[in-house]
Amino acid sequence: MDKPKVVLGVSGGIAAYKACELLRRLTESGHDVRVVPTASALHFVGAATWSALSGNPVATEVWDDVHEVPHVRIGQGADLVVVAPATADTLARAAHGLADDLLTNTLLTARCPVVFAPAMHTEMWEHPATQENVATLRRRGAVVVEPAVGRLTGVDTGKGRLPDPAEIFEVCRRVLARGAAEPDLAGRHVVVSAGGTREPLDPVRFLGNRSSGKQGYALARTAAARGARVTLIAANTALPDPAGVDVVPAGTAVQLREAVLKAAADADAVVMAAAVADFRPAAYATGKIKKKDDQEPEPIVLVRNPDILAEISADRARPGQVIVGFAAETDDVLAHGRAKLVRKGCDLLVVNEVGEHRTFGAEENEAVVLAADGGETPVPHGPKEALAEIVWDLVAARLH
Ligand code: CTP
Repeated sequence: MDKPKVVLGVSGGIAAYKACELLRRLTESGHDVRVVPTASALHFVGAATWSALSGNPVATEVWDDVHEVPHVRIGQGADLVVVAPATADTLARAAHGLADDLLTNTLLTARCPVVFAPAMHTEMWEHPATQENVATLRRRGAVVVEPAVGRLTGVDTGKGRLPDPAEIFEVCRRVLARGAAEPDLAGRHVVVSAGGTREPLDPVRFLGNRSSGKQGYALARTAAARGARVTLIAANTALPDPAGVDVVPAGTAVQLREAVLKAAADADAVVMAAAVADFRPAAYATGKIKKKDDQEPEPIVLVRNPDILAEISADRARPGQVIVGFAAETDDVLAHGRAKLVRKGCDLLVVNEVGEHRTFGAEENEAVVLAADGGETPVPHGPKEALAEIVWDLVAARLH
């Protein structure tokens, strides 16, 4: 089989050096990569580096190798174009259909999916001109990854950092896997909760659960690759932030509820993949609970936590909002799942079997998605991303 052909557009920002790692990841995972830098990108990383790492010739202008008509051929032959970093200037030229160098010509001739990973100073990102250009590109079907928040060039911090190259690579992989399929969540805001809540007993102890957050992160990543704006509410996870996703940390069930309600206010869909503790200790000891040699330990008294999924399902923030729950069951899985779907009032319930060595922390999953309208979609054993794609297929069908 031919290697998938990827065009890596690099524009002139300091983050250009991070595109070297993206390039390595793409080539090492079996992609044929043609790097098309802008002239200003070469101020940051030279053509020799791009050529050596990609194993392909590198040009910035349409006047090199004219007999091969590169300004048309490179775009036509691509399975994916990814521009990382995409500067404000490159986004503007792409949005307006300019064709004044090889990269912009390639963007006009490409008929494959296009991913932009912008990087710039916060002021430039937030400027209405840039925001309108991004909206135009998204409306036309491009995936524009939200920049990360953090240290920028110099001493500034804010939104505008290029996301981690490993995460941009994940977006590329997902977009390539979807092929020519439209980014069907473009223009949508989706909220995903992930991980497991921790309910503190005292400053050093908590009641928690085994959820790693991997399924929720897979949902966030796949939704971003399908064009959605994603808010990921992360409860006690130790996973890298997915590219282009707004990550909101939450510790306890009460904090998670607050974050979910806030984000759900303008969301098209909410997926509750987090394992939320049903109960929390009735009392919190402000000092560490000490053992007393001559006494049995005090019993821990628990009180109920709010049921977030039931609450947002009963009181939808927007008409037509699609709500998805997860059910972790250890026995009689389907019967419990059906009863839970009715009890929670959500539209879809992903039912999977859990146990000490099943699902929690694993890379793979097996489930059945039950729908309130009677549908039942079995998901065979496979990667958590495959289950995530099926969940979004079912959500997208309900949104359209
Ligand atoms: N959930 C929630 N708030 C809670 C408990 C659970 O929003 N307080 C959500 C979870 O995020 C998940 C779904 O409800 O999407 C099902 O969670 P699960 O623990 O399986 O269900 P429970 O309601 O706790 O039912 P039970 O413990 O009786 O099985």
